[in-house]
Amino acid sequence: MDIKTYRFEIHGDDRGQLIALEGCRNIPFEIKRVYYMYDTVAGVVRGKHAHKSLEQILICIHGSCSILLDDGTEKQVITLNRPDQGLYVSNVMWREMFDFSEDAVLMVLASEHYDEKDYIRDYDAFLKYIGKE
Ligand code: TYD
Repeated sequence: MDIKTYRFEIHGDDRGQLIALEGCRNIPFEIKRVYYMYDTVAGVVRGKHAHKSLEQILICIHGSCSILLDDGTEKQVITLNRPDQGLYVSNVMWREMFDFSEDAVLMVLASEHYDEKDYIRDYDAFLKYIGKE
């Protein structure tokens, strides 16, 4: 599976660190929405869905968490634990987020506004959608 990760430039100086994210510059799409998860309850698994067209970049800006990506053929787990690391998640990719540290803040940059109709929340429907079943 071709996993695309990004390492963002850190503008650090003696005051601290700063990272800038810009649509169609260091983020591969125009950013239409940003959301973030925090205070995630221990043991919880989030996500468990794919999308018809949404593209996303996931950044664990504080703490750590793991992301399972499943393209219907292969599965891969990626740990996010740096504020300068981004994980690209394409639309037709089943994703699950888990192993959140207590202090984890997982920020998501999305290419589209929220649209429940873009979600595929059933795994068998996902396999069918991508022609794997
Ligand atoms: P949900 O899709 O269950 O989160 P995840 O699958 O990433 O674990 O979303 C939780 C709630 O938040 C649900 O009621 C929908 C709402 N929500 C929005 O209103 N806007 C958004 O951009 C997102 C991602 C969720």
